[in-house]
Amino acid sequence: MLNNFPLWPQQASTIAGNVDALYIFLLIVTGMMALLVFSLVIFFAARFRHRPGVRAEQVEGSTPLEVVWSTIPFLIFMVIFGWGAVVFFKERTPPADATEVYVVAKQWMWKLEHAEGQREINELHVPVGRDVKLIMTSQDVIHSFYIPAFRIKQDVLPGRYTVEWFKATKPGVYHLFCAEYCGTQHSGMVGSIVVQQPADYEAWMAGASTGPLSVSGEKIFAELGCSSCHRSDMQGRGPNLQGVFGNPVQLEDGRTMIADENYLRQCILDPGSKRLKGFQPIMPTFQGLVDEEQVNALVAYIKAMSISKPMDGAKTSASSAMAGEVEVNDSAEQGAGQSAGPSQSLPHGSQVQ
Ligand code: CUA
Repeated sequence: MLNNFPLWPQQASTIAGNVDALYIFLLIVTGMMALLVFSLVIFFAARFRHRPGVRAEQVEGSTPLEVVWSTIPFLIFMVIFGWGAVVFFKERTPPADATEVYVVAKQWMWKLEHAEGQREINELHVPVGRDVKLIMTSQDVIHSFYIPAFRIKQDVLPGRYTVEWFKATKPGVYHLFCAEYCGTQHSGMVGSIVVQQPADYEAWMAGASTGPLSVSGEKIFAELGCSSCHRSDMQGRGPNLQGVFGNPVQLEDGRTMIADENYLRQCILDPGSKRLKGFQPIMPTFQGLVDEEQVNALVAYIKAMSISKPMDGAKTSASSAMAGEVEVNDSAEQGAGQSAGPSQSLPHGSQVQ
């Protein structure tokens, strides 16, 4: 219906219908209320207009009337609240097996890196019918990643990750906007979301010039010397990073938290703030030494160390390769004792430029 009468942008994601239904409900409720108020104003103005010889009487309150006009709006508001909460949590909770894309915003462009390897600027290719999770950060100021056809919008902040997700339902090309004023070229910070059939998407992905993001991360990990402390044999001065992601970690100050993307990111850039219990504060900060894209690659690598199951439908080269590599790494390091580092024991790292 709405496609032939475009008051709304296209509905092209699984959440779009839910958002629109709630929005239409709000329009109807507020429209009816406005109609009721204006009708009563006109009715009362006519009914109780001034007539010669008639004096106005004072009307005392009516408890039943007040109970009715308090209870009915309360119930309507509770429906809106409950319904809104359901849609909100659905939209805020990325499915666990979603394909991941790292987004770096900067004045004034979007840089997108698929965990599987492709990089894009101001354009994001995704397959139809697959959950896609965007892990986003900004290099400078606050931006906002907005896809009207998918009904999703999320601020993109410097210094931390924010997340949003969608599942596209229709092939096509959709607008991507920056929805937070971010400087003189803000209005030019636009792009497109290209939703393809899975086969077309696989063909497009096969043209990737770079390897999986986790493999780039592994290379950076070795180059920065992370592997000399973070070893998988528990002999290192830093914690073993395998199996860390997604699990609870106990901090030196007694807190326990889940090691999510933001935790890993903070540990790289501000290692003192969330130090693991039982480890010395000897890790230097990498703030200024790695850019946002390198942090993303490192995070993707550390995540890949923890994920043993293949990601989503089409097996990605990243996950299947990493699962194999981690095993190789394990046995190689156990066999070789102290000396083996990831760059020596992991064949993939050396293939990637
Ligand atoms: Cu970026 Cu507005």
